[in-house]
Amino acid sequence: MGLPGGPPKALMLALRHAYSVERFLETGTFSGSTAAWAAAHFSEVITIEASPELCRAAAERHRELAQIRFVEGDSRAVLEGIVASLGGPAIVWLDSHWSGGATYGEGDECPLLHEVATLRSAPAEHFIFIDDARLFLSPPPRPHDMRQWPTLAQVVAALTQGSRPLEVLVLDDAFIAVPAAAKQLVWEHAQEAATRDWDELQRARLESPAQHSTAKRLSALARDLSKRLFNASAVGK
Ligand SMILES: C[S@@+](CC[C@H](N)C(=O)[O-])C[C@H]1O[C@@H](n2cnc3c(N)ncnc32)[C@H](O)[C@@H]1O
Repeated sequence: MGLPGGPPKALMLALRHAYSVERFLETGTFSGSTAAWAAAHFSEVITIEASPELCRAAAERHRELAQIRFVEGDSRAVLEGIVASLGGPAIVWLDSHWSGGATYGEGDECPLLHEVATLRSAPAEHFIFIDDARLFLSPPPRPHDMRQWPTLAQVVAALTQGSRPLEVLVLDDAFIAVPAAAKQLVWEHAQEAATRDWDELQRARLESPAQHSTAKRLSALARDLSKRLFNASAVGK
């Protein structure tokens, strides 16, 4: 599961509007909260979940959202048929992996490479977001079995090799891989975010020395005051 924050929504919507993307495709439904968000912005939402119980519960929870199609199954078995049926490009949120608890995949933890290969062999060029980038940048934490997870080099190769290489970066704990035509938009968005973070850091650095010296001045005043009180009470004795 992603760090607090979930999908990079602003960037997904910027791509959705710039390239008139009508579809949102997710692997790993879990509670369906990302699919429910997508339903407010895309005319077609498809979400795939390998755990029958989680899939049923999410479909029930969001039954009023008719534009969401809940598909029960292992993404490796059902994604190809779904991708073939899409009428055009989709924003894709790849988020299916074992996450403990009631989630599917203990002993079969990560179908990511298969999913990416399926998407990249489709005729349409999709905008691929992969959640939990940190789990691929270095080994996932125990009790995950790191042998079942692709390495960073394997993930990048899966996204960039072949005849239509995608442009890839990591932002907000997600890999973002887009066709070359969308590179400028994504890079500008990422640079804005980096600039905001940098400015905030600089502000915090500037503010904390000020707080530090105020605290020092106050404690010097307190020391001085207690010395005077002590002297005054000593004089009064
Ligand atoms: C991290 S959660 C998904 C969170 C959700 N996408 C969200 O944004 O809130 C991962 C989900 O993937 C499911 N899953 C694991 N392996 C899968 C597979 N091979 N195919 C489909 N779903 C899978 C798990 O059951 C779990 O519900």
